Amino acid sequence: LKFAVSAAALSVAATGAYAACDDGEIVVKFSHVTNTDKHPKGIAANLLMERVNEEMDGTMCMEVYPNSTLYNDDQVLEAMLQGDVQLAAPSLSKFETFTKQFRIFDLPFMFVNMDAVDAFQSSETGQAMMDSMQRRGLQGLGFWHNGLKQFSANVPLNAPEDAAGLKFRVQTSDVLVAQMEALNASPQPMAFSEVYGALQTGVVDGQENTWSNIYGQKFFEVQDGITETNHGVLDYLVVASTDWLDSLDADVRDQFMTIFDEVTTERNAAIGEVDAENRQAVLDAGATIRELSPEQREAWVTVMKPVWDQFEGDVGAENIAAAQEINA
Ligand code: LMR
Repeated sequence: LKFAVSAAALSVAATGAYAACDDGEIVVKFSHVTNTDKHPKGIAANLLMERVNEEMDGTMCMEVYPNSTLYNDDQVLEAMLQGDVQLAAPSLSKFETFTKQFRIFDLPFMFVNMDAVDAFQSSETGQAMMDSMQRRGLQGLGFWHNGLKQFSANVPLNAPEDAAGLKFRVQTSDVLVAQMEALNASPQPMAFSEVYGALQTGVVDGQENTWSNIYGQKFFEVQDGITETNHGVLDYLVVASTDWLDSLDADVRDQFMTIFDEVTTERNAAIGEVDAENRQAVLDAGATIRELSPEQREAWVTVMKPVWDQFEGDVGAENIAAAQEINA
């Protein structure tokens, strides 16, 4: 690991990654789409990079490219299969073309809180999901938490009827499209990096995302307020290509995976704290947060939960039952 000041190193520095790799080191590019400051994924990716570059110096060298500077989520998995990037952590909604199993995480009101999400992911069913794309050349390494989603729009949202007729940006997921249709709203799938501009110019009226993404992308600046619905999960799967993993010597792979697992455990345990900090930062920035009474929230549940029926075949009735048992 050296710190050569070349044009390439400077441009890498500007994007948040700083390692300049030595000849002979295995270069690991980690591409993601969020900010790094305060963000659960940004923090975890940087911690992984720091530890790999310190503990595997001379063997492996990691560079993190945040903020969609290398790829957006629609491109990154194809780039990974081409060998152009080694690690990514797209949200579970972004794997539609590879597996339908993750649809369970997008179903509205499936999990009561992040502890339930964690327990489901740690279960045998959840762990098996990490292997579900091997046939397509991708291996899940671990789930990373972000949090529960909230709605925001350019008008106040209190009752589900308030969302009717509005255009909402959604991630590229059929479940999320169906969820917005259940609200009689118009879903607009769009890349993360384009959402702020689309909200600002009125291409869409609203969006759904977690506190860290609402804060990190400053969506609150161009919205009337945020309604605390906690209606769905946004979590990540860190993935690599099976080809790349197979290309590593067993001892190198083991050392990397030990560091990866430790970072995963540490940062997932901190998710409640990071989420609360981002919610507070949104408030401190002067944004309006609308809290719902239990009766008001129930009205959103009543309208959105029937979406489960449409996707039961994809996700498996037994998996829905297992998730509900964890909630109880
Ligand atoms: C989104 O597209 O809204 C999120 O998946 C972005 C992210 O990585 O948190």
